[in-house]
Amino acid sequence: MSPPMSTDALSDEELLQKANKIFAPVTLPCGRVLPNRLAKAPMYEHMAAMWGSEPHNGILALYKRWAEGDWGMVITGNVQVAKDHLPLGRDMIVPDELTDATLEPWRALADIIRTPHAGSSKTADAPARSRSSNSPMARMPFARPLAPSPIRLGAHSPKEGWVGNLAHRLMLQTPREMTIEDIQHAVQQFVHGAQMAAQSGFDGVEVHAAHGYLVSQFISPKSNTRTDEYSAETDPLHFLRDIVFGIRTAGVVSEDFVVGVKLNSADYSQDTGTPSSDRPLSHVREIGKWGLVDFIEVSGGDYEDPQFIDTVQKFKSPRQVIFETFSARSMDILTDCVPTATRRPPPLVILTGGLNTLPRMASALAQDHAHLLGIARLAVLRPTLPTDIKHALATGDTRGLLTEPRQATVLGDPPASLLSLRTLERLVFSILKFIWAFIPGRIPRIVGTSASVQWYNIMLRRIAFGQDVDYTLGLIGAALRCYLGPTPYPPVVGDGSWRWWLAAALVGMAMGVGLGQVV
Ligand SMILES: Cc1cc2nc3c(=O)[nH]c(=O)nc-3n(C[C@H](O)[C@H](O)[C@H](O)COP(=O)(O)O)c2cc1C
Repeated sequence: MSPPMSTDALSDEELLQKANKIFAPVTLPCGRVLPNRLAKAPMYEHMAAMWGSEPHNGILALYKRWAEGDWGMVITGNVQVAKDHLPLGRDMIVPDELTDATLEPWRALADIIRTPHAGSSKTADAPARSRSSNSPMARMPFARPLAPSPIRLGAHSPKEGWVGNLAHRLMLQTPREMTIEDIQHAVQQFVHGAQMAAQSGFDGVEVHAAHGYLVSQFISPKSNTRTDEYSAETDPLHFLRDIVFGIRTAGVVSEDFVVGVKLNSADYSQDTGTPSSDRPLSHVREIGKWGLVDFIEVSGGDYEDPQFIDTVQKFKSPRQVIFETFSARSMDILTDCVPTATRRPPPLVILTGGLNTLPRMASALAQDHAHLLGIARLAVLRPTLPTDIKHALATGDTRGLLTEPRQATVLGDPPASLLSLRTLERLVFSILKFIWAFIPGRIPRIVGTSASVQWYNIMLRRIAFGQDVDYTLGLIGAALRCYLGPTPYPPVVGDGSWRWWLAAALVGMAMGVGLGQVV
């Protein structure tokens, strides 16, 4: 078979003639068929109650918006499998006991994702994602998180200066090295998360093995210096393998349950200390050989080097997105993979990051650089992207999909009326930004990244309630609102959670003030 033609020489119009591939159904190794190639990528909603909760009406309203969009697959934001290790505090958490009562809110979420709504005809696949978080922020301030080795996040960013150091020390404690019992317990928590998803009616789970969270910490020699059987040098996938094999053990989930893995496309080699894609490609090969995984979602970076969000600057060409070379190479590797444990076909590849124009999406599929396209931020700006694209291709009016969507600015657009609280807010932030420029010390990149993520978190709340995206809100305002603003589910005063809410609010304020230095 001849390799697909490069799309570099094609005009946008020629490329769009190939865009119909977006709507070609595709079959996962477990046998489930996805109606199209667009996967709503995982996005932490930041909408659960403080210190975690089950899904509630606000979250259901959000997912109803995506259900209306006819996505081929909807992957939820992170669902935490360990309630005492939350990254940001408003996570959905897997319940300890799986009873009709505890499963009810999860069943409601699974139902709303797959229920056909007005204009929707297909059933969406809805893998919940389970993952135990680590270093970013432990449940209790100053409590030590668990990790493969006692290496603090930020330990590899010495150039970040004293502010960065202080922020890392306050927010990101040095973890305690996990014992073998801790590891086995964590594996059980992931398996329990998958059981919860299956019993609630989700079609599958995605295990988060990227972005510096616990599973990827085991994979990377940067965060795992163990010398036992979980060593990153001798068996980097041991922990992930325990989880995947645990989920696939007979009786835990059905044969057609989807199991996906989100994987980083570059990792650090202990020899050279520089990131390279050789190790992750060997991980793709190994995962392919297990014959147990339905898809690998390709991403990259961690909270020291957040490439998965900083995608825009890294494009090599206007068509090629940041992790596309890696996903194309993964496709090649997986085509030749012969599973040893089962007779399932090799996993499909989802490419996520920067796919924010129709030509980029069409190009990745036309060149067989991915089977599926993972879309995160554009799914906030356009919750019904698949139906929008279908309509645009049918009518030939693709104008709104050809160029990159605009980004939010630090202060936001000027509000329509000068006499508004938003004007006052802009003034205060402008002054703070000005003052901050004179303070020596740099804010860690994690803070800048957090602010742009938090802007999308606020927009998620807006779209859940049927409102439009609001560019008059800037990054600083979004960061503050994430912690200080009214939320659909504020803390319950009297149960003690308000103290943590206040602590998080102060951290949020410090982050917001610091933004002027980095953004
Ligand atoms: C608001 C927000 C929340 C996110 N939460 C998660 C998450 O819970 N799990 C995850 O794997 N990635 C998460 N991501 C990363 C996205 O899945 C995706 O990898 C990244 O945004 C790049 O894709 P995009 O260019 O289409 O936005 C999040 C991104 C955003 C903007």
